[in-house]
Amino acid sequence: MHTTVGIIGGGPAGLLLARLLHRAGIDSVVLESRDRAYVEQRQRAGILEQTTVDALRAAGAGERMDREGLVHHGVELRFDGRSHRLDFPALTGGRSVMVYAQTEVVKDLIALQLREGGPLLFGAEVAGVDGADTDRPVIRYTHEGREQTLTCDYVVGCDGFHGVAKRAIPEAERRTFERTYPYSWLGVLADAPPVGDELVYAHSDRGFALASVRSPTVSRLYLQVPNGTDVADWPDERIWDELGLRLASEGSGPLHRGPITAKSVLPMRSHVTEPMRWGRVLLAGDAAHIVPPTGAKGLNLAAADVIVLAAALTERYTTGSTTLLDTYSDTCLRRVWRAEHFSWFMTTTLHTDPGHTPFERRLQISQLERIATSTHAAAELAENYVGLPVGMSAACRPRVTAGCRTDVSGTAAAAANSMSS
Ligand code: APR
Ligand code: PHB
Repeated sequence: MHTTVGIIGGGPAGLLLARLLHRAGIDSVVLESRDRAYVEQRQRAGILEQTTVDALRAAGAGERMDREGLVHHGVELRFDGRSHRLDFPALTGGRSVMVYAQTEVVKDLIALQLREGGPLLFGAEVAGVDGADTDRPVIRYTHEGREQTLTCDYVVGCDGFHGVAKRAIPEAERRTFERTYPYSWLGVLADAPPVGDELVYAHSDRGFALASVRSPTVSRLYLQVPNGTDVADWPDERIWDELGLRLASEGSGPLHRGPITAKSVLPMRSHVTEPMRWGRVLLAGDAAHIVPPTGAKGLNLAAADVIVLAAALTERYTTGSTTLLDTYSDTCLRRVWRAEHFSWFMTTTLHTDPGHTPFERRLQISQLERIATSTHAAAELAENYVGLPVGMSAACRPRVTAGCRTDVSGTAAAAANSMSS
């Protein structure tokens, strides 16, 4: 079998790329090792930057997101028993974020691709890529018990942190940068109304806590826990008690408790693989970089990579020029490192590090106070949180279909209208 672009991995990066290529008239095949139900149910973050929202709309996958997504105009920071709101539009010249879970993004993209896209094969496990430095790279994979090959013009590795695509870059040419953290997150889903109208990021002596939202009746909550924590040690009552203590601030009411429907422990890691292109193999999303989730950047970075890549491949097949493909790795890595820094900053500022001295703990509080009292410091955080530009000219960004709303704020009114009607 031959295709123009062979995509390894059917997570958000692979699926969004397939959709953007389909819209540009470029064939692709997506090979995903897991089954559909597994991919659709994997719990991940849920904050979408404007650029990601625009790309999903441009991919034709914006309809349910625009109906059900919640536009958030700020976040709350809690520390030292006090609460401080960061007003995103005021700090960033009008920008906001959309809360719409990655599980839902993935469901929307899969349904669309199966309905009107190129092949998307589940249970297709890729063993490796041969001929990265030739004109016809080949993906080796197993599907329905048979070993098969897919010959491609280009191969894109969207196969996540443990994927095989990055091995196509010779070891001597591949550089990795990594940091692990001395804590993990215990993440839970609860049938309970959200803690506040916006996300709450809380720093306390007992550790970090984050209160996020999935819908008006479902909360997504996280607690900093030691590495190696067993969820069995965290019965529901203990989770609610600890959330109550860490999220408490002057004037905050009691938590709305409810049944906890899912619990898991998530490790925290920063990782970058360079370069993101070798010959005709390109890496995108978690295959090339991981961030700790504190800055809500993972999904948005994956989306930014494939936006750049779809534009580069479109240029290649409309004009024959490989200029954007040739600069793909450099273009993406600039944004990746900014997000790596921001995610590291949010993580190390908000968590309680068991190795910290009282001196370092005072520095954390001083930094948080600076954010709470200086418009400049708050704006620096807010700009990074709502997302920086994709680092390419506007002409290269995906076209937004006529009639689509082009800003998340525009959607707020529409969402509010559709909810009240
Ligand atoms: N063959 C085929 N598919 C594979 C293989 C393989 N050898 N190895 C991994 N995969 C699939 C995985 O099953 C997974 O569905 O690749 C997909 C990678 O998806 P993600 O891990 O979700 O990565 P990505 O699409 O880059 O999305 C990034 O996910 O981890 C979060 O925070 C991150 O939100 C961000 C997003
Ligand atoms: C989430 O909603 O799951 C979420 C939100 C913000 C983060 C991390 C996770 O920083």
